[in-house]
This record gives sequence, C-alpha cells and structure tokens, in this order.
Amino acid sequence: MNALLESSAIQSRVRELAQEIEGDYPAGEEIHLVGVLKGGFVFMADLIRSMTTRVSVDFIAVSSYGAGTKSSGEVRFQKDLDTSLEDRHVIIVEDIVDTGLTLKYLQDVLRQRAPRSLKTACLLSKPSRRKVEVPVEYIGFTIEDRFVVGYGLDFDEKYRNLPYIAVLNE
Ligand code: IMP
Repeated sequence: MNALLESSAIQSRVRELAQEIEGDYPAGEEIHLVGVLKGGFVFMADLIRSMTTRVSVDFIAVSSYGAGTKSSGEVRFQKDLDTSLEDRHVIIVEDIVDTGLTLKYLQDVLRQRAPRSLKTACLLSKPSRRKVEVPVEYIGFTIEDRFVVGYGLDFDEKYRNLPYIAVLNE
C-alpha cells in the first residue's frame, strides 16, 4: 500500500502537537488523556511519549462502524473509563474525526462528568464528511474524503499495525 502519510511525517507532527498541548496548560498541572479505543491507541502511545509534563491516561471504547467503511451514525458505548474526570484537565485522544458523530457523543457524555476543562486531539480530520459541528482543538492532519488505514486505524480489524497511513484501495 502507498503511504498517504509517512511514518516520519506522523512522528514529527505528533511531537509538534505534544508541544502545542503542553504550552496551553499551566506548568505543573496534570493533563488527563482519554484515549478512544481501539483506533486511538497508537496515537496516544506516541503522544504521551512526546510529553514531558505530568500526564495520566485512561481509555474508553465506543464503536460507530460495523465491519465496513460507512458510518451507521449509531454510537455504541463498549467500555467506560476507570477513573473520575471531576476537576481534571481532560483531553480526548481520538484517531480520526469523520462525520463527527462519535466525538459529539463522547464530548457530551464526558462533559457531564464535571472535568475542569475538556478538549479534543485528533490525529486526522475529514472536514468534508462532517454531519455535526464539533470542536477539535488539536488536529494532526486534514485529509480528503478517503478511507484510510494504519497507525491504529483499521478496516475490518486489519492494518492497525502499519507504521504509516494509507488509503484503502478495495
Ligand atoms: P465519526 O463518528 O463518523 O466521526 O467516525 C469516527 C470513527 O469512525 C473513528 O474513530 C474511526 O474509528 C472510524 N473511521 C472514520 N473514518 C475512518 C477511516 O478513514 N478509516 C478508519 N476508520 C475510520
């Protein structure tokens, strides 16, 4: 598969995002990263290793797609967080924002848990596919309306292990 985004480009962009994030919070404050499984785990792993401030992590699992490339618009909650968000600086760490439905749902649910602040970091964004408006403070790359795999992103549970991001050619 041809790379749309090479591993080296992803790595340097993730380092930039980490710096940007750290610069936005008061020094010494803990940043609590909430990774969205499964797609967000690779981005999360690289992001935290580029951060030097105090971080803590937790994971949540939702699914909006079945075994296909089209969104059903339905969001299912599969695993909840292990810890409370109350009074914490929370950043949702997600692989990609497509229609925005998953993120909108997640932001609404997590906001009800009284975090001190709530922001979102997405490695990829496909703005042309958006169905709902959703704020994303940190975006790695904006891409065209293509179905992509690799770096955590799958098609039917395949390709998550690619170190780069590629357009899936069916
Ligand atoms: P949304 O609710 O339509 O924004 O979809 C978000 C979720 O759909 C992401 O977290 C991904 O798991 C999945 N998704 C959307 N676009 C792609 C893609 O191009 N490749 C792989 N998964 C995708």
